[in-house]
Amino acid sequence: DAAEKGGYEHYMRKEIHEQPTALRQTLSGRIDLDRGDVDLDLSFPQGYLESLEEIQLVACGTSYYASQYAATLLEEFADVRATVEIASEYEFDGGRDPWRTLVIAVTQSGETADTLGAIRRAAGAGARTLAVTNTLGSTVTRETNDTLFIRAGPEIGVAATKTFASQVTTLALLAVAVGRGRGSLSTADARDVLENVRGLPGAVQQVLDDEARVTEVANECLGSDAFFFVGRRFGYPVALEGALKLKEISYDHAEGFAAGELKHGPLALVTEKTPVLAVLTAGADGSETVNNLAEAQTRGAPAIGVVSDGAETGSLDCALEVPRVGVFEPLVANVYFQLFAYHVANLKDRSIDKPRNLAKSVTVE
Ligand code: G6P
Repeated sequence: DAAEKGGYEHYMRKEIHEQPTALRQTLSGRIDLDRGDVDLDLSFPQGYLESLEEIQLVACGTSYYASQYAATLLEEFADVRATVEIASEYEFDGGRDPWRTLVIAVTQSGETADTLGAIRRAAGAGARTLAVTNTLGSTVTRETNDTLFIRAGPEIGVAATKTFASQVTTLALLAVAVGRGRGSLSTADARDVLENVRGLPGAVQQVLDDEARVTEVANECLGSDAFFFVGRRFGYPVALEGALKLKEISYDHAEGFAAGELKHGPLALVTEKTPVLAVLTAGADGSETVNNLAEAQTRGAPAIGVVSDGAETGSLDCALEVPRVGVFEPLVANVYFQLFAYHVANLKDRSIDKPRNLAKSVTVE
């Protein structure tokens, strides 16, 4: 066991640190910068992408938040309506044309019963289906028309970390493929996106190199009553994922909100013992979120913000920086949230790799 953890005390920390490697694997051989395109080896029929009206992503847990990130990428790059549904709530309905609807199951394990149920409902209605998974030979790969592997390598810790990064990155490549296929993403714009994607492994490494600061912040927050995570646009799913990670492994009360919603209710819970962690980078409309954060600070809440490298940090109690990679900066910010969750849980001596009541893969509906 100790050897498999490669010198780390927990699989989770090992897997957080494996993210640069995981992302390189995810991208390997898939980017063609000259053409401004990607090669994903998918077998869409001729004319299929051009005729698409909607992409639906179905998923659970962390994969659901990865799907939320991806839906916005798809709308932005591929000019196609993209919706996300929690797999256990999904029905193929609303008068959609199955031929013009692509349903994507996003599942690390490929075995989550809720997600398999959703993809079966979609396939039963006649929609084309695609699996985005980490697991070769998993059930989802046998039940969908196509599979896209995220290639993150095995993930043992129950709390998903590197698979989230690889899911979003794989789906970003898919968004480029769909955008190019539909003629809605120019060569120049695709190259810009792909340059940022190629910067991800290095950007994540820079965050990992800053781990000591995160440990300090985690230590300062140990006496907190609850933790709030906020963000806009791509920062919103990352806020939700940050809160999920913390509650899963530290058992602290943690909630994620769209930053603009803080004032519509959650602010009533804010005190000097409820740190607010905010995504303030590019891709997250940080300048607007700063105003929401200020309302929490007025009530005494410590404000921890993740900002773009070199950006104004204003009155933050703690500013954590991410390298400039455009709309992927919130994805890099998420690595700070993973480290934060890990260190809070570790300082509290929690069962990090196997949190109480949770399973890596849930095979019952
Ligand atoms: C379980 C795990 C979560 C995971 C979810 C979906 O609840 O504890 O970490 O995000 O299942 O798993 P999947 O394999 O479908 O991505």
